[in-house]
Amino acid sequence: MAAHRPLALLLLLRLALAAAVTLPGAGAFTISIRSVDNLTVLIKPGPSTQAEKFCRLCTGRDCFSERKVRPGEQFNFSFECQAPEKYWVLLVEKYIDCTSRLCPFADVLLQPSGLPNLNRTFIWDVKADRKHALVLKFATWLRQVEPGDTCQDQVVYKIGSRFDASTVNIGSFCKNGSVSRVKVQGEVIMTLQLPWDSKLNTSGFKIESRDSIKRLCIIESVFLSESSATLMSANFPLGFPEDELMTWQFVVPHTLRASVFFLNHTKPNCERKEPRLEYFLPGNNNPEIYSWKGGQPINIPGSFSLSLQGCDQDDTDPGALRLLFKVDVHYPKNEENISFTVDLRSEKDMNVTFYSDVLQSGSHSQNKPTCLICRSTRHCGPNVTLSSGGSTSITILCTQKDLSSCVKMVAEKSLACWKSRVCQNRQFLLFVPKSLLRLPVPLDSFVWKLTAPEDTNIELRAPGLKLQQHIPNQQHKCSGSYSYAINGTNPGKTLGFGIYCPGGAIEKIQIRNNVTISLKTFGLRFNSTYWDQDLKLSFVPAMKEDCIFTVSPAPKSKVYLETPNWVDGLPSHMNVCWNISVPRKSTAQLQFLSDRMGVICEEGWANVYVNEQTPNADNIVLRNDQLLPRTLDMRHNFWINISNCKPARNNILSMQFTVTIAGKKSDVAIIAGGVAGVLAVLTAIGLAVCCIKKKKKKETPQAPVVGVYNTNVNTQLPAKQGVFKKGRKNNESHVYAVIDDTMVYGHLLDNLSRPANAEVGVYRPFTGPVSSRPPSPPPVSSFRKMSKLSSTEESSIPVTDNEIYTFAQRALEPLKSNGDTRVSDNGEVGMSLLGKKELENSVE
Ligand SMILES: *[C@@H]1O[C@H](CO)[C@@H](O)[C@H](O)[C@H]1NC(C)=O
Ligand SMILES: *[C@@H]1O[C@H](CO)[C@@H](O)[C@H](O)[C@H]1NC(C)=O
Ligand SMILES: *[C@@H]1O[C@H](CO)[C@@H](O)[C@H](O)[C@H]1NC(C)=O
Ligand SMILES: *[C@@H]1O[C@H](CO)[C@@H](O)[C@H](O)[C@H]1NC(C)=O
Ligand SMILES: *[C@@H]1O[C@H](CO)[C@@H](O)[C@H](O)[C@H]1NC(C)=O
Ligand SMILES: *[C@@H]1O[C@H](CO)[C@@H](O)[C@H](O)[C@H]1NC(C)=O
Ligand SMILES: *[C@@H]1O[C@H](CO)[C@@H](O)[C@H](O)[C@H]1NC(C)=O
Ligand SMILES: *[C@@H]1O[C@H](CO)[C@@H](O)[C@H](O)[C@H]1NC(C)=O
Ligand SMILES: *[C@@H]1O[C@H](CO)[C@@H](O)[C@H](O)[C@H]1NC(C)=O
Ligand SMILES: *[C@@H]1O[C@H](CO)[C@@H](O)[C@H](O)[C@H]1NC(C)=O
Ligand SMILES: *[C@@H]1O[C@H](CO)[C@@H](O)[C@H](O)[C@H]1NC(C)=O
Ligand SMILES: *[C@@H]1O[C@H](CO)[C@@H](O)[C@H](O)[C@H]1NC(C)=O
Repeated sequence: MAAHRPLALLLLLRLALAAAVTLPGAGAFTISIRSVDNLTVLIKPGPSTQAEKFCRLCTGRDCFSERKVRPGEQFNFSFECQAPEKYWVLLVEKYIDCTSRLCPFADVLLQPSGLPNLNRTFIWDVKADRKHALVLKFATWLRQVEPGDTCQDQVVYKIGSRFDASTVNIGSFCKNGSVSRVKVQGEVIMTLQLPWDSKLNTSGFKIESRDSIKRLCIIESVFLSESSATLMSANFPLGFPEDELMTWQFVVPHTLRASVFFLNHTKPNCERKEPRLEYFLPGNNNPEIYSWKGGQPINIPGSFSLSLQGCDQDDTDPGALRLLFKVDVHYPKNEENISFTVDLRSEKDMNVTFYSDVLQSGSHSQNKPTCLICRSTRHCGPNVTLSSGGSTSITILCTQKDLSSCVKMVAEKSLACWKSRVCQNRQFLLFVPKSLLRLPVPLDSFVWKLTAPEDTNIELRAPGLKLQQHIPNQQHKCSGSYSYAINGTNPGKTLGFGIYCPGGAIEKIQIRNNVTISLKTFGLRFNSTYWDQDLKLSFVPAMKEDCIFTVSPAPKSKVYLETPNWVDGLPSHMNVCWNISVPRKSTAQLQFLSDRMGVICEEGWANVYVNEQTPNADNIVLRNDQLLPRTLDMRHNFWINISNCKPARNNILSMQFTVTIAGKKSDVAIIAGGVAGVLAVLTAIGLAVCCIKKKKKKETPQAPVVGVYNTNVNTQLPAKQGVFKKGRKNNESHVYAVIDDTMVYGHLLDNLSRPANAEVGVYRPFTGPVSSRPPSPPPVSSFRKMSKLSSTEESSIPVTDNEIYTFAQRALEPLKSNGDTRVSDNGEVGMSLLGKKELENSVE
């Protein structure tokens, strides 16, 4: 027995020893660090643990309160307890040099291996150039948490940045989120906390590259499906570093919608600048500034970014810039989904843009619908522009049921005449292609851009439509389903030739200018009146007037007219004519809607010229310093010509007048009376009598006010200064002067046999008092002959719009911008808000 005892004891001892070796945590460990690794491992007691009492760290007989293992060292040790993780922690610090080419653009390893299972903190101190940012890419995307918050698996990443001896906390993150990359400028302090039982054997991130970001940091967040992310400004909940810039980039598939909600923010006290919030939203190349107070963008259809810019804070009371926000990414809710094909194969030189009305407006208010327009499943955005020649399938997704209120269509077509001999005398229909009107998206506007060479002018005819001019201040507004705005596009000042709509008396407009004609629709009614469109374009030989309107009022009607460029006034020296026909057996009463031309000239005189197209007619020339007649009665077709001088500063020439057609003379009085009041009628009759009397006497006016019928070249007074002496003694001269035919045209009489288009001195625009044609362009017969000579026989055959391309093959150069008629970036045709609004109001 005795012999067995020591044996048994030995066995026991052996067992015990074996147990001691195999017991987890109680074994011996070796930490070996190569010098090239340039890292240190610190073994230290955890916070508020009594490691030295319950679990000593020893090598042989030497025990340590803590121990730092340096590069090149090997440290053999063991813990004198069975659960050292309760008492000890590890801190691994590694230095990485990214200022040189040695920067390891690779996965960051969890070095050294074979560490005891203790709570571990790895710190990578990545030195980098101040100017560059390191791009950290995460294998498992991260979810930002407030500093101090714990993660479900106790694995916490902290990203800091160090510059100028101060450290900024970019953020604390858990695994399982959307943050895929973080770009940090300057030195990066990256921390990874692992619990003692973590199986993680890689750091989970790599230093991907160096980048120039010119800001504190960029946080990139990727959303693959419905999810949300909460994000914070750097240093949250403390203040964002002064005057810094930080950006969040959100990668969102176009099939999803992102919304931004601010959860908590404070603004600092700024000494200079204001903290800014700037978004780049899909489809907009320009940033949009959002206010802190209002809602942030919602239903963003695709990737976007948000930047936060701090300010120079007040030293005495800096406050703090803090931002805590949430990005919600969800599938579109209640979206209407429409697909259709846009076939533009038979069109040429045309653009069609579909745009989402709401996002474009840059409106910052919440809950606005947003539509997404996709030309394939991949290319979606708030707008899509299609060019003619192709057929494209379009899908529109809207968060609102009523698609037509959020998606609109604008189209633009170029019609260019390059060679006058080819295009003169040909007619083109300006109508909206039927293929566009069949689409489920309403047409907002259709713009024709018309260009012609110098020797060719533009003539618009609306024989069926008969246009009326939109004159809002006379309550004479367009109220149909569409209107045409005509704008000059020649470089220089904006030039509006007016807004017109069907149902008036204007049959023809000739313009010596390149123009855009913008058909603007008012609501869905447009498509039912589509067949009314019969605007015809011809390129005609150049004329001398800037603009001629041919007006054919119906019997017993009243026509309102105004000079072009009403708001800004007729441009200097511009010369506009109205050729007004008076129906048979009717009388026309011309009434000016103000008693003076209302312009003060810096140079020359502005004139109104009224010329009845009959022999021995009353011809009236009025200068801008004279009173206008209230009314003038016309029994024959007549011309009104208004020509401007060079107005003095802050002076404009804008005139309005009406033509009232009455069956008999007495009717005129009645209609006029209704409009202008009895007093005006009496004056009118009085004047008419006056006028006739004067004429009958054939008396030479004492102060014949021979208005210089201005050409647009020279409005200087003629040499005969005396002629312009103001005849104040003549108490009738202030009303208006009747100019005797022989006086005015005396010097022309011998010239009546001249060719119609010849220069005729200061009265050049008129060939003679009886002319019923605008004098400048040669008669149709003569230019037809000319074009016959130089062109093919087809030249006089009216052609449809499609044939234009025989001469418009050359690519249209971008029109030199005068700023007024370009289609703005968002495709909305730049139309004066005033005109637009008024038009819209009048529709209601
Ligand atoms: C190792 O890291 C220290 C800072 O911890 C640094 O000063 C030193 O240059 C580094 N050495 C190498 C070889 O990277
Ligand atoms: C290790 O981490 C866990 C969880 O974070 C914590 O409860 C424990 O106290 C830590 N151990 C030490 C020694 O600090
Ligand atoms: C640590 O232990 C290993 C064997 O496990 C031995 O080879 C090495 O020399 C020891 N190192 C020191 C510094 O004691
Ligand atoms: C990650 O997210 C999924 C789903 O939300 C969840 O089931 C899982 O537990 C999360 N894991 C961690 C480590 O948070
Ligand atoms: C990490 O652990 C996994 C298994 O958990 C293993 O497949 C992988 O090779 C390990 N990686 C490294 C770098 O040790
Ligand atoms: C915003 O943050 C402040 C400071 O941390 C806190 O007092 C306040 O309750 C927070 N407000 C909300 C709505 O979270
Ligand atoms: C459009 O709606 C149909 C069914 O209503 C659906 O199958 C289709 O995926 C939707 N298309 C898109 C692009 O959302
Ligand atoms: C169509 O759009 C493109 C680009 O937006 C532009 O360059 C081109 O001039 C447009 N064409 C017409 C006919 O407006
Ligand atoms: C076009 O002409 C209309 C009417 O004359 C005017 O209201 C509008 O402002 C003009 N548009 C542009 C872009 O100049
Ligand atoms: C119209 O534009 C063309 C081409 O830009 C130019 O040559 C021509 O002179 C313009 N017409 C007028 C009347 O200014
Ligand atoms: C108007 O548009 C609708 C589609 O929005 C179409 O069904 C209808 O036929 C169109 N009407 C006319 C007269 O073109
Ligand atoms: C369409 O989107 C582009 C960028 O994608 C933008 O530049 C343009 O202004 C937008 N146009 C319209 C009509 O919204």
